[in-house]
Amino acid sequence: MDEFVFARILHVLGVILWIGGVAMVTTVLLPILARMKPAAEAMDFFAQFRRRFAAQARFSTLFVGVTGFYMVYLLDAWQRFTQWQYWWMHAMILIWLLFSIMLFVMEPRGRRQQVSASIQKNISAETFARIQRKHLTLLLLSLITIAGAVAGSHGWLIPGG
Ligand code: HEM
Repeated sequence: MDEFVFARILHVLGVILWIGGVAMVTTVLLPILARMKPAAEAMDFFAQFRRRFAAQARFSTLFVGVTGFYMVYLLDAWQRFTQWQYWWMHAMILIWLLFSIMLFVMEPRGRRQQVSASIQKNISAETFARIQRKHLTLLLLSLITIAGAVAGSHGWLIPGG
């Protein structure tokens, strides 16, 4: 069982690094950038920041995925994916997939297109508001998932089934 506890520790550390970063970007960085002028300069700064954060987030996403699947394997808990009481297991996979697509597919593609975008300079405060709304949605979904995973994995399941 020690292996399981070890995987759980690494899993939670990965989640903290990753979702903590998302929370900081959403509640601190983006509101500041939305007020910064000129907006095109703020976007350039955000692009640099995002590139660095994405590298770190890619690492923690992989880490959380490997430790997560390792725990499912150790628990032999695959049947949980057929039971709705374990909705938080589905939620963890969903959040993980969403972020993996963003970090491994969309972010590198966005970086390639960025040069032409910064030439256009048609960036406004509304651009940041839109980015912030997306981040807030992902953050709220992640927090609900974390709450469900902590409650569920410590035995607080919805009764029935
Ligand atoms: C491939 C994706 C993932 C898999 C396969 C996975 C799997 C697991 C498993 C098997 C457990 C232990 C459940 C138990 O003890 O009964 C767990 C715990 C947990 N996971 Fe995940 N997980 C994944 C992604 C995530 C993500 C994206 C988050 C955060 C948004 C997350 C947050 C947590 C938390 C907070 C716990 C509870 C830890 C505790 O209280 O001890 N996981 N996960």
